[in-house]
Amino acid sequence: MAARRCASDLAANIVFFLLFSFVHTQSAAIFSPPDDHLIACGATSAAALPDGRSFLTDSSLPTTILRSHGRRISVSNPSSDADPLHRTARVFTCPSSYEFDIKSKGVHLIRLHFYPFQTPEFNLSSARFHVLASGITLLSDFFAPRPLLKEYFINLKEEKLVISFYPADRSSFAFVNAIEVVSAPNDLILYPARLVKADEVAKFDGLSEQAFETLYRVNVGGPKVTPFNDSLWRTWIPDGVFLKPSSASEIVSYSGRIKYQEYGASREVAPDHVYNTARVMNGAVLSGSNYSMTWEFPVTSGYKYLIRMHFCDIASLALNQLYFNVYINGYMAYEDFDLSDSTGFLASPHYVDFVLDVDITELLSICIRPSNQSSPLWIRGLLNGLEIMKMNNTMGNLDDESPVILFSANPLKRGLGAFVRSLTCGFAFVSLSAIAFMLFLRWRSEQRSHAAWSPLPVDVSDSTLKPGKLVNF
Ligand SMILES: *[C@@H]1O[C@H](CO)[C@@H](O)[C@H](O)[C@H]1NC(C)=O
Ligand SMILES: *[C@@H]1O[C@H](CO)[C@@H](O)[C@H](O)[C@H]1NC(C)=O
Ligand SMILES: *[C@@H]1O[C@H](CO)[C@@H](O)[C@H](O)[C@H]1NC(C)=O
Ligand SMILES: *[C@@H]1O[C@H](CO)[C@@H](O)[C@H](O)[C@H]1NC(C)=O
Ligand SMILES: *[C@@H]1O[C@H](CO)[C@@H](O)[C@H](O)[C@H]1NC(C)=O
Repeated sequence: MAARRCASDLAANIVFFLLFSFVHTQSAAIFSPPDDHLIACGATSAAALPDGRSFLTDSSLPTTILRSHGRRISVSNPSSDADPLHRTARVFTCPSSYEFDIKSKGVHLIRLHFYPFQTPEFNLSSARFHVLASGITLLSDFFAPRPLLKEYFINLKEEKLVISFYPADRSSFAFVNAIEVVSAPNDLILYPARLVKADEVAKFDGLSEQAFETLYRVNVGGPKVTPFNDSLWRTWIPDGVFLKPSSASEIVSYSGRIKYQEYGASREVAPDHVYNTARVMNGAVLSGSNYSMTWEFPVTSGYKYLIRMHFCDIASLALNQLYFNVYINGYMAYEDFDLSDSTGFLASPHYVDFVLDVDITELLSICIRPSNQSSPLWIRGLLNGLEIMKMNNTMGNLDDESPVILFSANPLKRGLGAFVRSLTCGFAFVSLSAIAFMLFLRWRSEQRSHAAWSPLPVDVSDSTLKPGKLVNF
């Protein structure tokens, strides 16, 4: 009897050992993306970042081809103590593109760095332009009045990625300081999301087929996390400015080891610095049960949003004591959410994806309230991190309701200067017209399919449907 008990103890120990050695090896693995293009545009030498990465110059890259149909100019920041990526930029006075070789198809992270500085010739904050990647409008009529970092996730299905820059009109120009094209970790987008509607929660499949723009990345209850401390070189900002003052919360932090597990969140999904701090509603210090934590984020209506909530129970004293309800824009998104059930451990990270269609409000409000399954003295709500991503609309775009329709007018009618300019932009006309034609066809077929299948456009309300923009070069 005793021997048998001993044997089963031993078996349990072996299971435990295996489990923990797995947890250990998983956390020790370093993410090395198959595609990893880091480019300092216009630079004459590689730019070394404090986070250890090195950005190569765009003129010396063998795998990257810069196609430009006219002047492309390298400009230098007059203030020499700027950050490495802010010292130079590439200015395009004609449509231009970067072409990247893609070794491994699938979801890629694309970051565009815009740092507007002034030189005697160019005032970068007065640039106005469009940016397309892989046929998706990322930015339409964009300008950068202040430093901006734009981040996207796009599923690439071809062996080339083309990122194109189009000046918004003849007198304008485009610019960019740095570009990152990096394979996303395989486990970044894995599971179906919860599609939150007024009266039900449905399943949302095919997340990895969508294009996303990151709008907010928040370390709830914790400090700013810089790319140095993030395995995917992300920046997480504190949640204070988004938290409604009426929220009843306290901050907790944890110095133990975060137990990353297979099928849970990995370190590439979010780093330890996100999971080891949280904001909680502590029943032991709050009276009654009518309290909540609410965060509010301004967004653009007319798009679906992916809301990724990161949880790691670093506050409860035991398993199966944490239950709470999640509301998004007032709709019940998850009732009686039980984190222990999903992880089986305390201090083990887990995330839940929600999708919500924002039609009129221009606001996303995320609210956590106690569940009536939890005891009044327990931790009654918790959140460690929050990411909000805009999803492409039915026309496949991330900016503007209608595709940018580009076409070339007859340059001869526009005087000699324009004619010469159009000659310098030369070949651009051909590709531009081709893109314009393709976009127009796509737009037409979208309009048709809307007309054929539904009297109301799915994504775009009639009032916001604008005619395509006309762009002359
Ligand atoms: C640069 O352009 C911005 C935006 O158009 C403008 O506000 C700013 O005054 C310009 N700076 C100079 C020195 O012209
Ligand atoms: C990285 O995290 C450590 C530990 O929290 C902190 O001391 C350090 O300042 C962080 N480094 C950067 C560059 O953010
Ligand atoms: C809970 O509080 C909100 C405002 O904080 C109030 O509108 C609501 O009526 C309260 N509910 C109950 C059941 O007390
Ligand atoms: C628990 O709360 C839900 C709404 O969140 C309500 O429908 C249900 O009746 C409550 N259950 C109890 C036992 O109070
Ligand atoms: C995003 O674009 C894809 C491909 O064009 C399309 O299948 C998908 O439905 C779009 N997403 C949304 C939310 O409309």
